[in-house]
Amino acid sequence: MRTRVAVVGSINQDLVVETAALPAPGETVIGSELARFAGGKGANQAVAAARMGAAVAFVGRVGGDHSAAWLLDGLRRDGIDVARVSRDDGASGTALITVAADGGNTIVVAPGANWRLSIDDVEAARSAIESSDALLLQLEVPLDATKRAAEIARASGSTVFLNPSPAAPLADALLALVDLLVLNQTELAILAGATAAGSALLTGGVSTVVVTLGAAGAECFTRAGTRTVPPFLTRAVDPTAAGDAFLGALAATAKELGLEHALDFASAAGALATTRLGAQSSLPTRAEVETLLRTGRGG
Ligand code: RIB
Repeated sequence: MRTRVAVVGSINQDLVVETAALPAPGETVIGSELARFAGGKGANQAVAAARMGAAVAFVGRVGGDHSAAWLLDGLRRDGIDVARVSRDDGASGTALITVAADGGNTIVVAPGANWRLSIDDVEAARSAIESSDALLLQLEVPLDATKRAAEIARASGSTVFLNPSPAAPLADALLALVDLLVLNQTELAILAGATAAGSALLTGGVSTVVVTLGAAGAECFTRAGTRTVPPFLTRAVDPTAAGDAFLGALAATAKELGLEHALDFASAAGALATTRLGAQSSLPTRAEVETLLRTGRGG
């Protein structure tokens, strides 16, 4: 049976410009033509999980603008259930993204409808969350809605994955409901301090902390010890959504393959996502991940 993944989170149109280098504060630079991609951490993670073979339900909110229909059509094309996406007359979420030639990026999100996702919207999606094997959460929708989703999942035995991005202080009441935390080094420094190890976040219900290290792979912390996940070397052009690829692949495969193997799967998915421009446009298929796993690291 396919792993069932519910995602409660954001959905954005990403407006992307490529530049030779990221501008310094106060600097103006000329970039490429503007490109539009489907994004949003929640929607990206939903697509990443679907492309790994999971049955995915996405719970979020869009506005009444043109991008709303375009974004939802994209999720449908990946076979994602969007029946529990709420709509209103405001603007949908938009992210302004700069990608530099050296592979660095900056992202600023205008949350729009994402910020209007409510506890009632989450309650309306209760059945999808209760019937999931895994719930994926991020921090681009209101915390009260995120917490309610975690409460429903926890009570029904679904595994709760939290990607605390963008990083924000996490209440103990939320951490009590989370099984796995997956975050990057910048987020770890904000949440636990510049010199902290991922093990510092093994608190509340959190039994596993995975710190993604970009081109250096990842580290997985549990109370039993630490495991290093070596990187897959790829020709990176854009890091946008690499973390989302990792999260979606991990949630989609952890139950099926076990955490050890799922971490390698997630690492390969993250590496592949850096090889293409854009967010959902860059997310690999399961066949691509399996090929990279076969051809091995260093390819
Ligand atoms: O993680 C990448 C995503 O962050 C982008 O797609 C953007 O929309 C922001 O949510």
